[in-house]
Amino acid sequence: MDKILVTGGLGFIGSHTVVELQNEGYEVIIIDDLSNSSEKVLDGIVAITGKKPVFEKLDLKEKDKVEAFFAKHSDVKGVIHFAASKAVGESVSEPLKYYENNIGTLVYILKELRKLPSVGFIFSSSCTVYGQADELPITENAPVKQAESPYGNTKQIGEEIIKDTCKVSPNLKAIALRYFNPIGAHESVEIGELPIGVPQNLVPFITQTAIGLRDELSVFGEDYPTPDGTCIRDYIHVVDLAKAHVIALKRLLENKNKSSYETFNLGTGTGSSVLDVIKSFEKVSGEKLKYKIVGRREGDIISAYADTNKANNELGWKTQLSLDDAMRSAWKWECKVRGK
Ligand SMILES: NC(=O)c1ccc[n+]([C@@H]2O[C@H](COP(=O)([O-])OP(=O)(O)OC[C@H]3O[C@@H](n4cnc5c(N)ncnc54)[C@H](O)[C@@H]3O)[C@@H](O)[C@H]2O)c1
Repeated sequence: MDKILVTGGLGFIGSHTVVELQNEGYEVIIIDDLSNSSEKVLDGIVAITGKKPVFEKLDLKEKDKVEAFFAKHSDVKGVIHFAASKAVGESVSEPLKYYENNIGTLVYILKELRKLPSVGFIFSSSCTVYGQADELPITENAPVKQAESPYGNTKQIGEEIIKDTCKVSPNLKAIALRYFNPIGAHESVEIGELPIGVPQNLVPFITQTAIGLRDELSVFGEDYPTPDGTCIRDYIHVVDLAKAHVIALKRLLENKNKSSYETFNLGTGTGSSVLDVIKSFEKVSGEKLKYKIVGRREGDIISAYADTNKANNELGWKTQLSLDDAMRSAWKWECKVRGK
């Protein structure tokens, strides 16, 4: 079976994708520098799949090491590139860290991929490239808007770099997957999301509040032009998201892609408000969540959810799990991590 490199494979989305790849029989090599993850995640992957992927602790910012890796593994047929820094707020205060880690490493990897006989490349992009889209749901043809943060900019620039490189590299095919809002954990709760410090995202903040780690959740704004006044996002179960990566990779390996560079939205197609997510959490956990409504937060867009037609019809992928499923698994994971 083909050898697949997963960068950032011990992180949240990467670890779930490694599980799905191994379940499909792929031989997986993980590169991770553990800057936002732990080697213990490997145990979770083994517990689910019964197979230990090869793990190379390597910082992709070290160009020589990236070169040496590909010299040793020139039989890699596919690369799924998750490794990146992802804290939007931090990217504003430390832009160069983000440009170096998210753009520099991408360039180093692509340079090596150009030397291989044939390779498929999957890139972790984000719906952040659309900003506040003019039309909802958001199709892949919606214009890319001026990035709100250096992090968002790295996703836009990253996509451009890959597109330009594909144009001049007959051996290289790529897909950028634009994720909406990944949440949840594997149903076995052997792996899940492990935010370091104060969570930046809604769902880990909810579960950490419910378990007693945070005092209360602040809901930013209830006067937006949405049905209940709170912001709307498209929350996608991380296992559905992981499965989409395997399908996208197969598309490239089997030469079913329509052009050498493609983009797909990965979302459920359904928008959920902050209050919808809280209600779902309370329903599936039986816990009452402490939260308060506060003023709007600068930079938040009002509403974003995916048009999933292209992913459904072209890629042949559909989400199977619901918001309740995701909240149930997120809560089970939080309880497990905190020993409750
Ligand atoms: N989680 C989200 O909400 C979301 C949404 C859209 C896009 N994305 C993108 O998806 C990808 C994965 O996100 P995630 O939530 O799993 O993040 P994560 O932080 O859990 O995983 C990223 C992994 O990459 C590793 N890494 C970072 N820099 C590295 C380097 N220089 N060398 C080697 N390893 C390195 C980290 O240690 C971590 O294990 C990222 O590119 C992120 O920008 C995430």
